[in-house]
Amino acid sequence: MVDHSWPLLNLLIIGPKEAGASELTKCLSGEIGGVFSAEERNYVAIDVSADPRGTIQQVMQGTIVADGAVLVADASDGRTESLESIGLLLSNMGVDQVIVALNKIDLLDGPARLDAARERVRQLMPQVDLQCLSIVPLSAKTCENVCEPEGIGSGNDGPTLSEALNGFEALPSLADQPLRLPLTTSTERQGSRFYEGRLRSGVLVEGDQVLLSPSNALARVARVQILDGRQYAQIAHPGDQVSLLLDMDSHIEAGELLSHVEEAPIESDVFRGRILWRRKEPLTAGARVDLDAGGSVVQAEVQSISRCIDATDPQKETSNDLLPGQVGEVILRAVNLIAIDTRATCPANSRLQILDEQGVAGVGSISMDGYADQRGVVTVRATNVTRVAHQVSTDARVNRHEHRGAVLWFTGLSGAGKSTLAIEVERAMFEKGYEVYVLDGDNIRHGLNADLGFSPEDRSENIRRVGEVAALFSRAGIVAISAFISPYRSDRARARAAAGSDFHEVYIKAPIEVCERRDPKGLYARARSGELREFTGISAPYETPESPELTVDTATHDVAACVAQVIAYVDSELSISPQSPPSSS
Ligand code: ADX
Repeated sequence: MVDHSWPLLNLLIIGPKEAGASELTKCLSGEIGGVFSAEERNYVAIDVSADPRGTIQQVMQGTIVADGAVLVADASDGRTESLESIGLLLSNMGVDQVIVALNKIDLLDGPARLDAARERVRQLMPQVDLQCLSIVPLSAKTCENVCEPEGIGSGNDGPTLSEALNGFEALPSLADQPLRLPLTTSTERQGSRFYEGRLRSGVLVEGDQVLLSPSNALARVARVQILDGRQYAQIAHPGDQVSLLLDMDSHIEAGELLSHVEEAPIESDVFRGRILWRRKEPLTAGARVDLDAGGSVVQAEVQSISRCIDATDPQKETSNDLLPGQVGEVILRAVNLIAIDTRATCPANSRLQILDEQGVAGVGSISMDGYADQRGVVTVRATNVTRVAHQVSTDARVNRHEHRGAVLWFTGLSGAGKSTLAIEVERAMFEKGYEVYVLDGDNIRHGLNADLGFSPEDRSENIRRVGEVAALFSRAGIVAISAFISPYRSDRARARAAAGSDFHEVYIKAPIEVCERRDPKGLYARARSGELREFTGISAPYETPESPELTVDTATHDVAACVAQVIAYVDSELSISPQSPPSSS
């Protein structure tokens, strides 16, 4: 019996060929069109193999919201390659919650085989970035352990599949999701400016305090008008086309995303798109695209592409370009900060489209895995502050020190040699008469930044603070050498903006294999074993500099040669007379 007051969840049932996904779908839902009930919820079981192309397309464009997936594995098959490709396909589709059904337990000849199959699955799930809620041994042929536990003789004491489904979190209704209203146009009427847009999710009430992103402006909603039908209303609901009068200090352009202050969208210029590509021409790294994300259209660059999987044949060979019919992970860099969401922050606003002259070339969803919400590092909270002017000029400082103040911004992987070189360069510069000081990641994280860890947001804040401190040193006439991984381009660009023309990006370059071989602190080994999470280069991104002022290759040159290279650069760029750097005067 289907109780219509219960929530309805869409479940994808998917697995390698012959693993028994269709059989399991039938076993779960019988012959009533895929709908079944369990634990006070209704489910639609969608057998992906019945129409892989159509189903995947609908999930990727958001027509079907997949609340979870049952990944069907053949417990008697020791190979994991095909399961791995299907797992990757699911995670590329943005389906992050799965239950693994270990099928065909009726064919196993003892609990040891089952334990081995469980272990294989356990190891595989983090590799394909899936959150596995439970592993349920069952038989789709006899329906053992699907709804009823009886008949299991192989030592299974966990839940049945239908009990396990309870672990899936149903998405909240649109009205229960955070408020998201893209303001697409603005018009002047009777001396007032009205902003218009269609409410995506949440509920907007006249008088609400709201936040506009990405400008970060605050406002109060003075008046709400619903444009289709009711002329005046105090509350707007999802789907309503509304016109708003806002009370605010500054004027904003259309193109902003309106939210409540407490449940703000993410602000970032870089994020992951999990995309199904629909054009004959492949999508390649470096391509410039128009992106419809977060309610507005922006220009973006494809920074990199990975994990491409053919939607209908996950075993098919793939390349680093996204080919038609493939689902892949694309790092997108927008020209400006934009306001976006992920499934975790607001599902209704987490979709994206890549547009071209013919229309929609790619569809998918946004993920921030490994990337930071940059709102924290761009928000200025202080009000009523006025700058004071110094009475010691920059020229006076340069003349006294006989060199310009500067920031030598060392960036590179852990183990690339940043600290070693920074310390050696500091000594050599000091001996030559330069005023110089090293700001080192491991040191600063004991003091100024002791409150920060290694999440993307904490790394951004780490670099924001150090960028500002280094810029202060530089303005004081001193050369600050900073040695931080600083993995994100946007953070390094902000550090550059803080120091202006005195900023010199120095890429300390060594391939990850070399850094891993050096492993001076044993951290790579711990990261590989999974003990250390979010480790740069292994499980967290490093974005290589695009046009650093200097590249120092530590894999092919020894320390002395690298130091000499930096010193030659310093003498030519910072000394006011490169022929006779400070000490010789
Ligand atoms: S950054 O990414 O925020 O720029 P930072 O340079 O301050 O990093 O610190 C990096 C140092 O912290 C590394 O040299 C290493 O010793 C240590 N460390 C500890 N955990 C991690 C991690 N998860 N990723 C990278 N480095 C780490």
